[in-house]
Amino acid sequence: MRCVVANWKMNLTSDEAKAFCEDLLGRFAPGAGTEAGIAPPFTLLHQVSGLVRSKGIQVFGQNGHAEPKGAFTGEVSMPQLRDAGCSGVILGHSERRQLFGETDAALAKKVKAAWQWDLLPLLCIGETLEQRDAGQTLEALGQQLSILAETGPGPLWVAYEPVWAIGTGRRAEAAQVREAHAFIRTELQRHLAGTEYQVPILYGGSVTPENFPELLGIPEVAGGLVGGASLDSRKFAELVRQAG
Ligand code: G3H
Repeated sequence: MRCVVANWKMNLTSDEAKAFCEDLLGRFAPGAGTEAGIAPPFTLLHQVSGLVRSKGIQVFGQNGHAEPKGAFTGEVSMPQLRDAGCSGVILGHSERRQLFGETDAALAKKVKAAWQWDLLPLLCIGETLEQRDAGQTLEALGQQLSILAETGPGPLWVAYEPVWAIGTGRRAEAAQVREAHAFIRTELQRHLAGTEYQVPILYGGSVTPENFPELLGIPEVAGGLVGGASLDSRKFAELVRQAG
């Protein structure tokens, strides 16, 4: 299975989202076995899911709270994401970890809450530039995946996103991606041994239609989590086409 997910981050208005979806659907031609997803801001979830879910495009929240409801001003819960048309939720994006102090302990709770509400977690992991320069890349990835020892097994997608490659135009080199994805696969096999879960490992970080075909040729790269390039419906449609 190949997966391509658009992470719109804090971008697009209602009119812009409508234009994007209409244009995308006119071009949308996924291959058999390719899953496409869009993660809009919370304000656009209802609208986007109404436009694309019937075409087989999944809708993801960009975050979700571990508690189902309560006094958590500014937060959105997993059942609210489901209610808005989501089938999955991005968890642990590096921007949430770095800018909003999201911890592995909090993420373990969120993954469990997502499962409880039948949402597919798309767990993001990745090393900082400091960790890579210090030779701590695999250690960092192993640490971020160790939450699976606490959550136990369940359906999951993982995105490897080197923090230094996000939004920088500096995509990780093939050898770096190969090493990281092979390591992640080994860790997942360890955590999910004896279970039926097949976890696709996506790459994220300055993915474009120009570099995606090379990335897809790397073993264990099952697709992409795309930020900047996913704001252009033509580019996103092309990435989905390439994945197929
Ligand atoms: O979630 C997406 C990633 O943060 C990648 O963003 O494609 O703009 O580098 P980017």
